[in-house]
Order: sequence, then C-alpha cells, then structure tokens
Amino acid sequence: MVSFSSLLLSALSISTTVLSSPIPAKDASSLQFVHESNEKRYYNYDDGSLNEPIRGVNIGGWLVLEPYITPSLFEAFRTNPYNDDGIPVDEFHFCEQLGQETAKDRLEAHWSTFYQEADFKNIAEEGFNLIRIPIGYWAFQTLESDPYVKGSQEAKMDQAIAWAEKYGLKVWVDLHGAVGSQNGFDNSGLRGSIDFLNEENLNITVSVLNYMLEKYSSDKYLDTVIGVELINEPLGPVLDMDQLKNSYLKPAYDYVRNNLNSDQILIIHDAFQPFNYWDDFLAPGEDTWGVVLDHHHYQVFSSGELARNIDDHVKVACSWGTGVLDESHWSVAGEFSAALTDCAKWLNGVGIGARYDGSYSKPNDGSYYIGSCANNEDITTWSDERKQDTRRYVEAQLDAFEMRGGWIIWCYKTESSIEWDVQRLIFDGLFPQPITARQYPGQCN
Ligand SMILES: *[C@@H]1O[C@H](CO)[C@@H](O)[C@H](O)[C@H]1NC(C)=O
Repeated sequence: MVSFSSLLLSALSISTTVLSSPIPAKDASSLQFVHESNEKRYYNYDDGSLNEPIRGVNIGGWLVLEPYITPSLFEAFRTNPYNDDGIPVDEFHFCEQLGQETAKDRLEAHWSTFYQEADFKNIAEEGFNLIRIPIGYWAFQTLESDPYVKGSQEAKMDQAIAWAEKYGLKVWVDLHGAVGSQNGFDNSGLRGSIDFLNEENLNITVSVLNYMLEKYSSDKYLDTVIGVELINEPLGPVLDMDQLKNSYLKPAYDYVRNNLNSDQILIIHDAFQPFNYWDDFLAPGEDTWGVVLDHHHYQVFSSGELARNIDDHVKVACSWGTGVLDESHWSVAGEFSAALTDCAKWLNGVGIGARYDGSYSKPNDGSYYIGSCANNEDITTWSDERKQDTRRYVEAQLDAFEMRGGWIIWCYKTESSIEWDVQRLIFDGLFPQPITARQYPGQCN
C-alpha cells in the first residue's frame, strides 16, 4: 500500500454523477467486457453475465507476511523496549534471521491458524462475494540464495479456494511478491530494493506467473477463480513502464489467450498511474478482452492527505468513482481501507512511526503533528465523531467504487488494528451490515 498523492490529485475530478441504472444485456457465453461508455459492468458469477458489483475483502497478511497485520510474529524478535532494532522488517528477513527450519515451523503454524474455514463462511455470511488472496513467488519456486520458506502456501491457497467455492465466494489470485520485489514495500516480501525487471529475476517471476496462470485458468478453478492479478503494485514511477508492459504484462496476456486458449480474466494493477493511463494498453476490442484494471486508493500515506477534513476525504473518495467512468477497461478498487490515520503500529514499516502524530522516522519526509495516535486501537476511546467519520468514509468509498466494477477492502483481519480490520469494523458498526445498508446515503450523488 502506498499512495502517490500528487498523481492521484492530478487525476482528481470532483463532479456529480448519477448512477446509470440499466444493467447491460448479458452474453452468457463469454467473459468479454466490451466498452460502453459510462455503463456499470458487473460480473455475474452464475452465468458469466454482468449484474452485481464485486464486493470483496482481501486476505492480507496470511500467505505473505506484513508486520502490521501480525505484529506478534515480529515482536518475538524484540531486543529492547525503546526501539525496533533487531526486528526483521519483512518476510524475507524474518526467514533469514530464523533459518529455514524455525521459520518454516512458525510460518506453517501461522498459515494453518490465521485463516480457517470459519473465516470464509463468515465472509460469505457478511455479504461479501469475493476474496482476493495475495501470494508470493516463493510459494511456488525459490532461488538458491533465497531465505524464503517454500512450504504449504500453495496448498493453503487451494484450500482457501475450495472453501470459497463451498460458501459461494469468488476469488482473485494475486501475485503479491515478485523476484527482487516490484515495489520495495514490505508487503512484497522484501523491503527496500526494486529488482523486479532485472532479466534474471524477471525470468523466474514469469515462470512462476505462467504456472499460476495455467493452473488457475484450468477448468477445475475457472468457476471460482474469476481473476488472476499479474503483479500487485509495480512501482510505476520507478520502473521502466515500457518494459513492464512489453516484457511482462503483454506476454502474460498472450500466454493466456494464445497458449492456454483461456478466457480467464487478467487483472492489471495500475502501477500508480493516473486514471486513463491504461486506456490504450490491452484495451477492450475485438481481439482483446477480459482485462480488468485494479486501482488501489488510500489517503493516509502523506501528511497532505492525513490533514484533510472528513468532507474532503469523502470528496476525494467520490472522485475515485467518477474518475474511472470513462476508462476503457472495466475496473475494480482492489484495495482501500477505512483508515483516516496511519497510526496502526508498523503500518509504514517496522521501525518507522506514523506521520499522523509526527513520529515518522524516515528522513526528509516533512511530516508534522496532525493528531495523537494514543489509544488508537482501543475503540472505547474513539469519539462519536471519529466513529461517524470512519463510517461515512467507508460508505462513500463503497458508493464510489460501485459506480463501476466494485471493490475489495483491505483487509479482513489483523491482530490488533481497528482501521484495517474488517471483522472489527463490522463488530464496531463502522462497516455496513447488511453490506448495502447506508447510514449516509447518496454521498457521491
Ligand atoms: C531469460 O529468458 C529468455 C527467454 O526464455 C532467455 O532468452 C534469456 O537467456 C533468459 N535470461 C536470463 C538472464 O536467464
């Protein structure tokens, strides 16, 4: 998760939009998404037609570790009460510091407990219709130099897909970590460097991706897995975009359509590019179909965003809906959250504080005190106003994203955060139940 606020702001247009009503006629025989301007395009899971928005939730911090989602796995390394020295910053270093055997024990215990069948049942009962499951390349293949554990992640993924199917949920399988890292975020497995497009690395990622595409496009999975995300959040402003397109994304598309002869839907993350950037790349037309754009949206990764008042947060959220209406690709907001602060411990990474309270410790960031993070994870200390603002913000985003293909909130559970934990948000009345209920209707009209 990261937000390039200037890019997003440049794409920001605050206009009013009335949701267009009629659902386009279906063509049950195909998964094609033919562009018709401003039409809502929803996938119907039963017959391949279009009628319901994706209302999904991310299974974050499970098959790829994120310190802020499961801090207990990382707190085990604590050396002193004053700072985070010695605590691994990501899964790569978690494995490296523990060694294969111990890392495997701890990870297998995590994989088999953090998500279980009851979670998928609950997710379905709460009205979600899809789960997005991040997984790293090392679940399928490791390099000789890798400290990563290649354990039962793939089997866990398949078990999750089976449970999803049992409870009527659809699945996006999401390659969240590439060899060398595609963005340098801890959630790619390896924080710091970005070596995704180095040829040797790229070849291995491609071979893993092709394996995933072949497997999850096969008949066994096609009814439940309705999308494979080619790579999560490649850091467009740093990567060579032409290489990303021509050496990775386009070959993957060609592989699926031409080699596998499959209609599987392929998900392309927007690489932090502005709206309409992708309009001419694998654009829907006679020869190209089934490519869905994934836009991620947050307002907590810069001081400017954090300082906005709730009305501005809502306005920006609504602009995320109107912003995609004339994109050529069908799109889904594959990540967003309820968060109005970055206070959750380690949200910005192990050893890095929060911009919100001015404790951010990467140099030269220019962040400043906006408010206190004290007791952020104790809902009994939240003011009524904060609860109302959070609920308002959640609802505005759902309304915005349902102007087109729908949404997948980040993420279903965490060990201790509120703002990033859908289970707690539901429990605390900050996320709608039923899922279409609104306390603040029409915010984006
Ligand atoms: C990467 O794969 C291509 C195509 O298979 C091959 O020609 C090339 O030698 C590989 N490069 C490396 C560095 O492994």
